[in-house]
Amino acid sequence: MKIKLELPFSPACLRNQEPILTLLRRWMPPEARVLEVGSGSGQHAIHMARHLPGVRWQPSERPESMAGLAGRICLEGQKDMAPGALVAPPLVLDVTEAHWPSGPYEAVFTANTLHIMPAAAVPHLLAGSVKVLTGEGLLLIYGPFRYGDGHTAASNQAFDAHLQQLDPAMGVRDAVELQAMASRLGLHLQADAAMPANNRLLVFQKSDDGRGE
Ligand SMILES: C[S@@+](CC[C@H](N)C(=O)[O-])C[C@H]1O[C@@H](n2cnc3c(N)ncnc32)[C@H](O)[C@@H]1O
Repeated sequence: MKIKLELPFSPACLRNQEPILTLLRRWMPPEARVLEVGSGSGQHAIHMARHLPGVRWQPSERPESMAGLAGRICLEGQKDMAPGALVAPPLVLDVTEAHWPSGPYEAVFTANTLHIMPAAAVPHLLAGSVKVLTGEGLLLIYGPFRYGDGHTAASNQAFDAHLQQLDPAMGVRDAVELQAMASRLGLHLQADAAMPANNRLLVFQKSDDGRGE
């Protein structure tokens, strides 16, 4: 008997994977070890490992969303990889928990997670990333952001209101605040790139100035 496993699928992931890949090609050092936080459906993990030669991609998720992610990595994580690239079996990781993997990683990547995790979890994401990154490692964060009170688009403002109605702890984060918080931990903004559908890709680099070590 054949059992058909229904994998989680994100249409947003499908739409944004190519624009994200274009920027990752620019920013990722060769053969980077990458920790992805909140991998969701696993589509990004698979797509990036199919197109970034030598990348070693470590997906992760909270326990409650692990089954679908593990299913995708198991079914698709060996096929058509770029030369030397691999996707590791996913790890359980809630950014607010103390049990981060030891790393080190040249990059931490996360997409569309900051507005979903509670605001109080965001500093944990930053501090955890500092701990697992190499000396000049990168933290790349994709998603919608606002700048102070200003939204970059009416659709983001409506999305923000919708999220906060669902749960007041969710919401589109302030990139200015995020940048200040990151900088205090030794993560410095290198790029803030406009992406399709009013999203951004923020690239932070850890500096070897001893902070956050
Ligand atoms: C909108 S989904 C995005 C999933 C995937 N990154 C994507 O781009 O399709 C938000 C993700 O954030 C994850 N998330 C929320 N809170 C988290 C936390 N405290 N630690 C780790 N991941 C978290 C959820 O489990 C979920 O997978």
